[in-house]
Amino acid sequence: MAVLLTGGTGFIGSHTAVELVQQGRQVVLLDNYSNSQPEVAERIGRIVGRQVPAVEADLLDEAALERVFSDFDIDSVIHFAGFKAVGESVEKPLAYYHNNLTGTVNLLRAMSVHGVKKLVFSSSATVYRADNPVPYREDSPLGAVNPYGWTKVMIEQILRDQAAADPAWAVLLLRYFNPIGAHPSGLIGEDPSGLPNNLVPYVARVAAGLLPKVQVFGADYDTPDGSGVRDYIHVVDLARGHRLALDRLERPDRLGGVEAFNLGTGRGSSVFEVIAAYERACGQKIPCQTVGRRPGDLPVVYADPALARAELGFEARLTLDEMCQDSWRWQRNLSSE
Ligand code: WQD
Repeated sequence: MAVLLTGGTGFIGSHTAVELVQQGRQVVLLDNYSNSQPEVAERIGRIVGRQVPAVEADLLDEAALERVFSDFDIDSVIHFAGFKAVGESVEKPLAYYHNNLTGTVNLLRAMSVHGVKKLVFSSSATVYRADNPVPYREDSPLGAVNPYGWTKVMIEQILRDQAAADPAWAVLLLRYFNPIGAHPSGLIGEDPSGLPNNLVPYVARVAAGLLPKVQVFGADYDTPDGSGVRDYIHVVDLARGHRLALDRLERPDRLGGVEAFNLGTGRGSSVFEVIAAYERACGQKIPCQTVGRRPGDLPVVYADPALARAELGFEARLTLDEMCQDSWRWQRNLSSE
């Protein structure tokens, strides 16, 4: 019996694959490599000490999906695959709705045909309405501010409707805050194509001398040092959260249905604090320049992590310094390739 990881060679998927294999599970990676490389599967294999099956397939290709479920004995799915660049989603909404929503519906139909009814969904804190008070709780009202975020809200609704239509379905929605860092081996990590949209991969490339300086998007927010505050969580902690989610889905006493959990630390860190932590990790000053606010950014976002702690037994352990140290090790390896 295997767990299928769609988007399994991506940033979160690859780290979750390591966690699950090291727990003793069989894992199958499915990816179209639109935002990752096939060699990630080989690197996962080097970390866990054995090959992990990886299939190149696109969720928009129903025949390929059918082959995956026929070729492998899959009994649960973690669904990571999807476009995830906020800015790009504003420029290309139809591409995002087609890829993320149609791909998900195809996946759920293939699962239904094969009697696979356990799913963990890679959701996001962007599903929460921007005017919610922080910390965000799982019962905070939902509402996105960009097409990417709306695809996450809509997929959560699709899953609720599927579980209502067939109560045998058991679904967990994991709402990530800001995943950063890398596996301590330095073999897998975040490597966005093109210019990074997110703070830490951008800082990493500045530290590596690949980019000249970090632009700080606003230092006039109502925060301790004026820069934006976010809930950064180590990707290795996040991977453990997925393992605990799968364990919960497989509990014989679990009643099916849909549950949502925040995966965050419950602590906020500012842009300047992240840059300072990265300077400690890489041992050098990181040039930065304060510019205007980025449209759509919120001043402060962080999680209420209590429900995941109470129900999943999940609590983030790794510190911001460890996140930056692991990120820097990975960036150094990337730069030396
Ligand atoms: C963090 C902070 C910026 C870049 C996004 C997505 C969200 C999720 C995580 C997928 C903010 C500041 C950033 C830079 C900066 N992804 N910043 N200079 O926007 O909190 O969340 O990634 O689910 O959906 O929205 O992350 O890393 O872009 O920004 O000053 O070059 O860093 O203003 O305060 P964000 P981020």
